[in-house]
Amino acid sequence: MPKWLDTAVFYEIYPQSFYDTNADGIGDIQGIIRKLDYIRELGFNALWINPCFVSPFGDAGYDVADYCQVAPRYGTNEDLKQLFAQAHNRGIHVLLDLVPGHTSVEHPWFRESMKPERNPFTDRYVWTDSVWTSPEGMGCLRGISQRDGSCALNFFSCQPALNYGFYNITQPWQQGMEDDGPKATLEAMKDVMAFWLGMGCDGFRVDMAGSLVKNDPEGEGTIALWKKVRAFLDEKFPEAVLISEWGEPDKALRGGFHMDFLLHFGPSHYNDLFRCEHPYFSDCGLGDASAFVEKYLDTTGKVGRAGLICIPSGNHDMCRLAKHVTQEERRLAFTFLLTMPGAPFVYYGDEIGMRHVENLTSVEGGYARTGARSPMQWDSSTNAGFSSAAGERLYIAQDPGADRPTVEKQMADETSQYHQVKHLLALRKAHPALQNLSEITFLSSGAPKEALAYLRSCDEETLLVAINPYREAVTFPVEGTLGKALYTYGGEASQKDGAITVMPVSAGIYLFE
Ligand code: NOJ
Repeated sequence: MPKWLDTAVFYEIYPQSFYDTNADGIGDIQGIIRKLDYIRELGFNALWINPCFVSPFGDAGYDVADYCQVAPRYGTNEDLKQLFAQAHNRGIHVLLDLVPGHTSVEHPWFRESMKPERNPFTDRYVWTDSVWTSPEGMGCLRGISQRDGSCALNFFSCQPALNYGFYNITQPWQQGMEDDGPKATLEAMKDVMAFWLGMGCDGFRVDMAGSLVKNDPEGEGTIALWKKVRAFLDEKFPEAVLISEWGEPDKALRGGFHMDFLLHFGPSHYNDLFRCEHPYFSDCGLGDASAFVEKYLDTTGKVGRAGLICIPSGNHDMCRLAKHVTQEERRLAFTFLLTMPGAPFVYYGDEIGMRHVENLTSVEGGYARTGARSPMQWDSSTNAGFSSAAGERLYIAQDPGADRPTVEKQMADETSQYHQVKHLLALRKAHPALQNLSEITFLSSGAPKEALAYLRSCDEETLLVAINPYREAVTFPVEGTLGKALYTYGGEASQKDGAITVMPVSAGIYLFE
């Protein structure tokens, strides 16, 4: 694993909505460059940028039409190259978003593959051998080409599935992973990676990484495929970092990914923490983090130190963190997010508590996700400083509230969430025990009305993190001595007779012996 991942803390940028420098109402690459100092000063040292490539934007750019060309609305390849260089000058690494599972229907590969005559792209996608035959268990496009066949979909109807082969072959039209078509698809995707890595990007967040090989119930085929990718990278770009959107680190890390996310889907119980009717990080006393902790321990037991399990504050596919947890509760949630092992990922705007914008008409396939994708709120000028375009031209309407949070307001208020995030990131940087690969031992697993408490340790030190979202003080037994508080919110924990008492709605980080 590249050394920088030991201390990497990521900021996710949805480029459409971050900062617009040319007044067209949509964010751009130059906008990201202008805000690099903001990101660095907050304490982040790595970026994940959502797809910024040529696309008809049926799914906000996850429907790629040219993998090797920046979409004109964001700028040029030169701009992206400049972003890599400017980020590196500030000690920031940059991951692009790789979408290997599907393309747009407008991708030239797909246009070629629709032709009835055999050509080099005939087997680039998953096609059946007759328009009357559908691929089992997958949606499909049919009746759209002179080619007699149905093409499997990987996600929306504008996203035909690229062909990496089938793990279990049950139909004559299904190809194996070692067939020429699937092998050529993989080679083409390696070329895409090499193109951007050669230009200075540091790696990729891989979209739907577990979806590539079909009829692969345990993911064994897909794991084998990613191992090949890793072997290729190890030879040509050994420093290239890969993080998967898989949601099952025990599988993803076996495939050679350095990191995998815990997500709103999959077995991790991530939603129990912040995105459900009774989240653990709320004062209702009904929330329960214990299934999350149990699954987390089970997963860490399986992956060991093979890579990082990453817990995001949110992303462009989930409702905003602020939808289910209040300002006060978010302080507790951030104490957790920024003191857990693995690399933290903070979604742009979550550092100031941007709200989920309700009742928006879907934009570019966003549907319910649209409200989490609204433009960043920088200051009190026009369009919250995001763009100088007329308000109606903005990519997505902004939070209309007069009290909407902005970076400017929060920078001026020492008690704001912005300052909390900055402070916690500085603590994480200063304390090796809080960093990505240091150990975690749970002391209290956040059952209803119980604290979430854990030790973070490394050779140099042991720290205790204790969080109580509940409106009454809670206690948990402990062996050892609570030391000086390094950080507290809502009151300091105390120790008596082998038990630690955590104040109502509070969070703290303490020395521990
Ligand atoms: C996951 C991405 O995060 C999401 O935004 C997209 O719609 C799907 N994959 C399809 O690419």
